[in-house]
Amino acid sequence: MATVDKSSLKLPIENPEAQDFLPLLGTDYIELYVGNAKQSAYYYMAAWGFRPLAYAGLETGQKDKVSYVLQQDKIRLVLSSPLQSGGEINKHIDAHGDGVKVVALWVDNATKSHKETTTRGAKSYFEPKTLEDQHGKVVLSGIHTYGETVHVFVERGDYKGVFMPGFRKWDPFYKPAEVGLKYIDHIVGNVGWNEMNKWCQFYAKVMGFAQLVSFDDKDISTEYTALMSKVMSNGNGRIKFPINEPAEGRKKSQIEEYIDFYNGAGVQHMALATDNIIETVTALKNRGVEFLTVPASYYEDVLDRVGQIDEDLEPLRELGILIDRDDEGYLLQIFTKPILDRPTMFIEIIQRKGAKSFGKGNFKALFEAIEREQEARGTL
Ligand SMILES: [Fe+2]
Repeated sequence: MATVDKSSLKLPIENPEAQDFLPLLGTDYIELYVGNAKQSAYYYMAAWGFRPLAYAGLETGQKDKVSYVLQQDKIRLVLSSPLQSGGEINKHIDAHGDGVKVVALWVDNATKSHKETTTRGAKSYFEPKTLEDQHGKVVLSGIHTYGETVHVFVERGDYKGVFMPGFRKWDPFYKPAEVGLKYIDHIVGNVGWNEMNKWCQFYAKVMGFAQLVSFDDKDISTEYTALMSKVMSNGNGRIKFPINEPAEGRKKSQIEEYIDFYNGAGVQHMALATDNIIETVTALKNRGVEFLTVPASYYEDVLDRVGQIDEDLEPLRELGILIDRDDEGYLLQIFTKPILDRPTMFIEIIQRKGAKSFGKGNFKALFEAIEREQEARGTL
């Protein structure tokens, strides 16, 4: 594998093992295929504080698909629904329910990114193509990853339009306030039995990622359910993809429950970062977002485990926010219940105070909370 001069990339090196031959500049957008994009857009605005940005559909000459683009700080969501029957999006929704189809990655050169990844073994989703309008051009290319999920490489150059060619500004009267979400911290994939290493190797070989940390079933099994997890990251640390697989437990793994309902591998959760988790979670709860709760006993000894923190414990306890510490600092995090009808995708809110890890110290309390929910669904 060719080495690159990382100093030329002008990006901090967070994971020195990784080979940033693309390189990835960040997450460009997440596209969900959903049954009713108009109503999903309302949910992400009303409950999550996303702002309307762009629209494509019948009025813009797009006959088969409608897409709403929402934005909050650096996080962009695209919600797409079919306008006809029997198409690719319809089949995706039939198989998986609503879910993430595209994890789009921002690059300098989408043509090179396609070539670098496909020559290393990635399966092409589509060849590089240039979209153009009066605001400039955007080059896109795509590769497949786990399940039916894909990565689209987005080269924006100096494109000045609202999102990309084909979209027009979407400016409805209804624009609820943001809730302080800043950027995507990580995106987690659930894969099938014994497939974690295969997909970690995929990200290592195809994109030059390196492993940050791993958790095995000793770390993250409760009495009943278990999983294995490894975190893959690119060189500048802007892209972090934990990969989970189910592990044997006394009862059904939460990952297996996901795989059963999603009909295969897919995105399990996105972690969205905030600078003030107490304000963000308070706003989300007031707008109806439902979070997992841990027993009150969690807070009795949590400060013995994590040491001093800047925040008062009381609002964290009231909101159910979890705390963990690693060598570099601490983090605050909380997880929603599944946000879809199928028990598949959920969202994590995370505030990092120096910590670069993922909350391993919370796994037991968290997974016991998930098991209580599985029990209620009869899927434990
Ligand atoms: Fe997470």
